Amino acid sequence: MTRDDKFNIQRRTVWRNFWQRLSGVPDLAVKLLFVALYLAGMVWVWSKQEAVSAYAQSVEFMSPIMLAAMTHIVPAYLIVGGAVLAVLMVYPFGRKAAQDQLRSIGLVNRAEMVPELLRKRQDKEHPRVTVWEFRNQSIPLAVWEEKQAALEAALDISIVKIIYGKSRSRVLIYAVPTQTSLPDILRWSDSYLSSDSFVLTLGESLLGPVTVNLVHIPHILLGGSTGSGKSVLLKLLLMQALHKGAEVYIADFKGGVDFSKVWREKCRMCFTEAELLDTLDNLVRELEQRKGLLAKTGCPNLDAYNEATGENLPRLVFGCDEVAEVLDRTGRSKGDKELLAQIESRLATIARLGRAFGIHLILATQRPDANIIPGQIKNNMDFRVCGRADSVLSQIILDNTSAADQIPKDARGRFITGDGTVFQGYLFDEEQL
Ligand SMILES: Nc1ncnc2c1ncn2[C@@H]1O[C@H](COP(=O)(O)OP(=O)(O)O)[C@@H](O)[C@H]1O
Ligand SMILES: [Mg+2]
Repeated sequence: MTRDDKFNIQRRTVWRNFWQRLSGVPDLAVKLLFVALYLAGMVWVWSKQEAVSAYAQSVEFMSPIMLAAMTHIVPAYLIVGGAVLAVLMVYPFGRKAAQDQLRSIGLVNRAEMVPELLRKRQDKEHPRVTVWEFRNQSIPLAVWEEKQAALEAALDISIVKIIYGKSRSRVLIYAVPTQTSLPDILRWSDSYLSSDSFVLTLGESLLGPVTVNLVHIPHILLGGSTGSGKSVLLKLLLMQALHKGAEVYIADFKGGVDFSKVWREKCRMCFTEAELLDTLDNLVRELEQRKGLLAKTGCPNLDAYNEATGENLPRLVFGCDEVAEVLDRTGRSKGDKELLAQIESRLATIARLGRAFGIHLILATQRPDANIIPGQIKNNMDFRVCGRADSVLSQIILDNTSAADQIPKDARGRFITGDGTVFQGYLFDEEQL
């Protein structure tokens, strides 16, 4: 890339960002109209300044302030008009209409008082998002959430989230225009790969990319019924881990139908329970070894250790699809049950201790049986994502029923995170590996 190319790209990006910011300004059309009127007024005042000044001096009795303003009509217009314009720029247009709408959907307190729209502003981090700030008149957040669908229809917006403002007397609605919705298909491109180590990108919500940083949140649990897109998402994450230099381990008991040849070349695969136990044994041994190394050098975690010693110990990522099938002991022989118990205990150790030592689990499941993934493992998996699911599965994965409530029944690759962010996962083609 030549310097000119770079310069051109930078310049175009600046413009694109500018337009994107501008197009997200609340009530943009009305505001532009006021700016246009102000400028037109300025031209008119400019052209008439001498006439006005002459007229002011010809009048016999006039207050000194008025006289000064009329003889210096241009600066007077700039100051007074500018102040009025500034107020109009932040005024939430449609305040009264919003109040009427809220009253009509019954969002009122016991005294029949309706929330008051205080401000509409563009979100700093997300130019497409408008934040509506209401004085909530003591109506609790839960009631606002309950009425989310009615609010969306009444205000003609799609609500991204509703939260309390600085105090509980304010409610903030984060909204995007109704036409905006998530695309059904979003293809992965390597340019989406995050440059931050060790951030993995899952897809996009209305607010932008949804990411998880394994440095802070070490393990990921993916849920969803058959065909919801778990396997694709699991592979998307493992592929990114590979790109970032992690060693990837994969348990695949379906005889390699799920993971094609490319994976087998780049990752360590285990196809049987015995191999799986062996792999997990190795991971736990590595964990113990790293624990010793970190203790000796007084480093709190893997990154600090690598930096202090100049070594480059890689992160280790273990991925397993249909993990409930793997761990299910019903109908198994005594010997098998023991083997499975050991597998489970190794997984629990990694789940509990893996974070500081850079050893991570990414597990996927579709089975809504609470007892199959033991609490010891599940409770340490802090990043949870669920695709299309019934309320039992949603409850198990996310501890709430939001996946059942918010993910359409025919959606593929559409997920919701534990904190309620709905996103479209990137569709990733193994040929891109
Ligand atoms: N992110 C996505 N975007 C669009 N379609 C997807 C996405 N993920 C999966 N799909 C579609 O759904 C099908 C099932 O996905 P898969 O990951 O195998 O589901 P699961 O493992 O949950 O049963 C895929 O073959 C693909 O056609
Ligand atoms: Mg699958």
